[in-house]
Amino acid sequence: MTRQIVSVVGGKDAAGMSTYQSTNPARTSEVVAAVGLADADTFAAACRTAKEAQREWAKVPPPVRGRVIASIGRLVEANAESLARLVTEEIGKPYAEALGEVREIVDTCDFFLGEGRRLYGQTVPSEMPDKNLFTFRNPVGVAAVITAGNFPVAVPSWYLVPALLCGNAVVWKPAEYAAASGHALYRLFAAAGLPDGVLNVVFADGAETFRGLERALEEGTVHKVGFTGSSEVGRKVGELTGRHLQSACLELGGKNPMVIMPDADLDLAVEGALFSGFGTAGQRCTSLGTVIVHESVHDEFVARFARAVREAAIGAPDGDVLAGPLLDQKFAERYEEYLTWIQPHHEVVSGATGRITADNPRGAFTGEGGLYYHPVVVDGVRPSDRLFLEETFGPVVGVTTFRTLDEALELANLPGYGLSSSIYTTEATNAFRFREGISAGMVSVNNSTSGAEAHLPFGGNGKSGNGSRQSGMWVLDQFTRWQAMNWDHSGRLQKAQMDVADITPDLGFRL
Ligand code: UN1
Repeated sequence: MTRQIVSVVGGKDAAGMSTYQSTNPARTSEVVAAVGLADADTFAAACRTAKEAQREWAKVPPPVRGRVIASIGRLVEANAESLARLVTEEIGKPYAEALGEVREIVDTCDFFLGEGRRLYGQTVPSEMPDKNLFTFRNPVGVAAVITAGNFPVAVPSWYLVPALLCGNAVVWKPAEYAAASGHALYRLFAAAGLPDGVLNVVFADGAETFRGLERALEEGTVHKVGFTGSSEVGRKVGELTGRHLQSACLELGGKNPMVIMPDADLDLAVEGALFSGFGTAGQRCTSLGTVIVHESVHDEFVARFARAVREAAIGAPDGDVLAGPLLDQKFAERYEEYLTWIQPHHEVVSGATGRITADNPRGAFTGEGGLYYHPVVVDGVRPSDRLFLEETFGPVVGVTTFRTLDEALELANLPGYGLSSSIYTTEATNAFRFREGISAGMVSVNNSTSGAEAHLPFGGNGKSGNGSRQSGMWVLDQFTRWQAMNWDHSGRLQKAQMDVADITPDLGFRL
């Protein structure tokens, strides 16, 4: 029987206005869940409910909130296999990767359960006697979190866990095509004992969510927006929040470069490029966009890379494969459009392109019933090509060449994104010059562009985001606001900058 799921607001199911069918991309005729989609009113109502619930939640001592986060981590760990299976069923992510994704939630909880006992403020010296200065982290209030479905449970946890730990309430809008995974994660959070209304999940389409968010911002019931998705929608969310004097935490697309120096270990680079480009079927925001390879090793690298890609297993995501199907029909259609950007001056070195079918098989695999695509490597990409400049969410990687590291850096920064990047080199100076010159928020040396650990700052610059960072201690600045307090116990009014003792130096003194 098909799962029926609806939004949960204030601990109660909220009826949907229309139904969306979340399907299994490996067998598109299989419905994973019938999802009741809410409208803008429900979203705005959820924000009002959250605002109400937040007042009490903020009074719960942070170490106690930390214990709730610990329970979430334990619950996720105890349900890891079933959650990972659901992720695989709903978005086609290979099971091993889905388990890794679930692990990332546990890692996030492990980090933040201790933060409940820290959440440090500071004591700061005053310029006057008998006066004390302090800083405190206050929760922002209600966070509206809108997430993509390529990481349907891990990336949401990067927002939900620290937001809740810091004493905020949350209204979370997962991607429709990953709704069942989102709903399951919600249930695990709820089982940890979060009071009703502190976490609300609303399933809605993009347009209704946007209208609901606009209304909530007008009503003053949202104080932080977290958004993971495309640069195009991120721009709109940023504009909307800016108009209401709120800041959004934006985690957007990437055109992540991999530079291969002449001194690189080429086999290692091939392994890294294969996973960066085609793991998760190239559908991570951190996936590899363009390989920028030194002209002296270009032919050798491309030959080895093309061979590895041709041999890579694409197939049912419950098997031992590099990649399964694309996330959803919408992504498959968009990906097919990216393939039209391949021009006559390009050379496809990986073999067949397009959908895997009986007429266009991959070895014995005919991709029947699923959204399976051949992984594609396009050599001869030029800096003016769309393939070079724009994000191509899906299994396609471009290759271009360079002569000097400065030229490689210029090419790497040219598309104007700035999420992740990678360099393969055996020279420390190359690695550090690359780090200094690259515009990306994340830099890998001799490693994949993807696969950031859960306790390092995650986020990008330029078209990849507005400089906000998630994860680790850095995300605390997204979900708290600093409050400065001064306490004068001198018994008189001491005026700052005026009633301050001065020690007179002899500035004319010379040796
Ligand atoms: C994303 O695709 O939005 O670093 C996040 C990585 C993963 C997260 C990707 N840990 O590739």
